Amino acid sequence: MTLMRGVLLAALPLALAQVNPPGTPFPNSTYPNSTDPLTDSGAQSGETSPPSYPSPWGEGLGDWEAAYAQAHAFVSQLTLLEKVNLTTGVGWEGEKCVGNNGAIPRLGFKSLCMQDSPLGVRDTDFVSAFPAGVTIAATWDRQLFYQRGYDMGSEHRDKGVDVQLGPVVGPIGRSPEGGRNWEGFSPDPVLSGIAVAQTVKGIQAAGIMSCTKHYIGYEQEHFRQGGPTISDSISSNIDDVTMHELYLWPFADAVRAGTASVMCSYNQINNSYACQNSWTQNYLLKNELGFQGFVMTDWSGQHSGVSSALAGLDMTMPGDIGFDSGTSFWGPNLTIAVLNGTIPQWRLDDMCVRIVAAWYYVDREANQVENAPNFSSWTEDTFGYLHYYASEDYTQINYHVDVRGDHAANIRTQAAKGTVLLKNNGALPLTGKEKLTGVFGSDASENQYGPNGCSDRGCDNGTLAMGWGSGTANFPYLVTPLEAIKAEVLSNGKSIESVIDDYAYAQQNALARRISDVAGACIVFVNADAGEGYIIVDDNEGDRNNLTLWHNGDDLIRNVTSFCNNTIVVMHTVGPVLVDAWYENENVTAIIWAAIPGQESGNAITDILYGKVNPGGKNVFTWGASRGAYGTDLLYEPNNGAGAPQEDFAEGIFIDYRHFDRVGETPIYEFGFGLSYTTFAYSNLQVQTHSAPAYTPTTGQTGSAPVLGSVSNNTADYLLPDDITPLVAYIYPYLNSTSLAASSGDPQYGINYTFPAGAYDSSPQPFLAAGSKVAPGGNQALYDILFTVTATVTNTGGVAGDEVPQLYLSLGGPNDAKVVLRNFDRITIAAGASGTFTADITRRDLSNWDTDAQDW
Ligand code: NOJ
Repeated sequence: MTLMRGVLLAALPLALAQVNPPGTPFPNSTYPNSTDPLTDSGAQSGETSPPSYPSPWGEGLGDWEAAYAQAHAFVSQLTLLEKVNLTTGVGWEGEKCVGNNGAIPRLGFKSLCMQDSPLGVRDTDFVSAFPAGVTIAATWDRQLFYQRGYDMGSEHRDKGVDVQLGPVVGPIGRSPEGGRNWEGFSPDPVLSGIAVAQTVKGIQAAGIMSCTKHYIGYEQEHFRQGGPTISDSISSNIDDVTMHELYLWPFADAVRAGTASVMCSYNQINNSYACQNSWTQNYLLKNELGFQGFVMTDWSGQHSGVSSALAGLDMTMPGDIGFDSGTSFWGPNLTIAVLNGTIPQWRLDDMCVRIVAAWYYVDREANQVENAPNFSSWTEDTFGYLHYYASEDYTQINYHVDVRGDHAANIRTQAAKGTVLLKNNGALPLTGKEKLTGVFGSDASENQYGPNGCSDRGCDNGTLAMGWGSGTANFPYLVTPLEAIKAEVLSNGKSIESVIDDYAYAQQNALARRISDVAGACIVFVNADAGEGYIIVDDNEGDRNNLTLWHNGDDLIRNVTSFCNNTIVVMHTVGPVLVDAWYENENVTAIIWAAIPGQESGNAITDILYGKVNPGGKNVFTWGASRGAYGTDLLYEPNNGAGAPQEDFAEGIFIDYRHFDRVGETPIYEFGFGLSYTTFAYSNLQVQTHSAPAYTPTTGQTGSAPVLGSVSNNTADYLLPDDITPLVAYIYPYLNSTSLAASSGDPQYGINYTFPAGAYDSSPQPFLAAGSKVAPGGNQALYDILFTVTATVTNTGGVAGDEVPQLYLSLGGPNDAKVVLRNFDRITIAAGASGTFTADITRRDLSNWDTDAQDW
């Protein structure tokens, strides 16, 4: 791998690399002249970004054309109330999914079911628990990215879900302590981008909508929604170059892949909330990237009614301001806003078209199931309330449909292929002839409360196969390492013992000594957990407090290695941990990162340990020697009084390996590294140049904003109908008075607020230079292939194996990273045979963002 880096770098022409100004903020900021290039290359405290209006209306670009035609026809028939229903959730626990919008019964359009999570169907039974994002990323295998997406999408579909709330590329993993990094793929934007695109395509091929989240700059749990003494959410301050070259990059891939929806995040970006930030939503997402689907809030991530609508928000979830407050920024207030003209009708129409077009785009019509959704997120009882919070409509709510199909085999393969062999002094693979095998550590065994015993996996008991929070699913079973290894040992007629108490030092020592005496193998399981901030585990408020192993894992390893000279360490961790205390210990004969594997954990690690699967996974992050080695950290304490904490992404694009390269910090295990039971040699590197037309900035204008149907001005048309008894805390679109002022309940109604200039302009708008008028994903010339690199990879060892050749480029500018990953492939090669690595390099791969030109 290292050789490959060097070879390719030398071979590639650097002439195309451009120079970008040092982290230039866009455009008005307090960015000072850089004095310390290590900390001053990104945005600074108090950072702002420019307003951008009007909100771009979807035009049915590319393969969205037919869906848009259908959506226009559908939305044209709707009344104002029906349109409002599409955009607004009915309130927390109002229906059966974690989020539901209002239905349009007149036209048989059902309430849409939005359901977590990025690794399986959350809050229900008889579903699969897939490997987490970080694990599938470590396979570096496009086919597996897609397959996992398709299998997850199928399970959501068969439960009657319309929108799967995943995949995740925000957080991308700016700092390793970030609580939800494991839900996403990798801090590298290209690996993340390829993984998210394949996942989106897989999910949507199953006939449901994906929701790529969380947009954008959501890199930590602390202060994501303020705090006890802080009313505003943290502001992630990000400059324009960093935004384009790092954080926005994988979202661009998701948009290009056709993601049906995007979830705006809890945090602020440059001191404006993500769900009402016109720069990120109107300008970047909808204009520059040409996103054709809809933007949905994270749960209670909305902070304004009119402003969020004008800034590009399309759907509010779960619809109420506080859970079950019975109030909404939209719902009746959206009805009022359209009637009094503070939100133009075309903007509401655009919200609806985007939602309905996404529905057609993935062919939801043809993918309906009986009794959908056939589960309730709020209880697993068979009978219960359809409207859980209001305790109304007692009926059958769970049908316990088993949707797992044959996914277990795929899950086992994915987990094994996402396992990274970090060290091997010849100890692995195990032969099965070990006279006595010892298994150590609670991470090898069952959670005493059962695999689902802690709500949303909010504890670290037993083997770690999933982090905690909303990004979870219930395990249908969890194969522990201990039981799978035991089955293997018994099938070989040998002996196995275990000590699963992490603190039973005497017993650990005694067993380790006996194993050493008979030349057996000691397998030590350790872990490190993290999750979403609404659950605190062992004092970790979602984010990790440190990078050390949990349950004194270092002590466990020290105890076993003091006596056992063949100690194999297996780590289930959400990201990098500090291994400096023991990785060089000669009694540690092998080290494995077994990632966050999902339900087949034990089988997958046993496949690797015993050589049934030859490890081919590669690191998706860097393993540093210390916490400080990463250069970035989280903000744990407020730094702005009672105001929004300010997190300056001052390191710019230099996260993970880019930072290590920049400061010359030697990692313990580098990004992209992973061993195999065989060896590979590279030869015959070739670079083929393609002729592509020159890059041309996009010009021209959109059409004007479509207005679909008409809205009656008679407020009496919008009153709650006599035959509807409202459910408690349920959000409806109805007015409660024919007076808009009275209906708003706002004592300040009628005050002349100033709304942003341009927000009401429905006339044709210029396309952005970096945008596109033909397809989502931005200027299509970015995706022209300029070079193709090929190399021969030969398996020089004795067993078949997988290799992941990786293509790194040096863009060559003074503000560029030393190298950046641009492509890769995973190839299976028989012993003695050769395979060909082929990787395209696009124009985008060779471009920098130019803030002044607002173009690549
Ligand atoms: C909040 C989380 O941030 C988001 O990822 C999730 O989809 C929603 N809650 C719904 O559970």
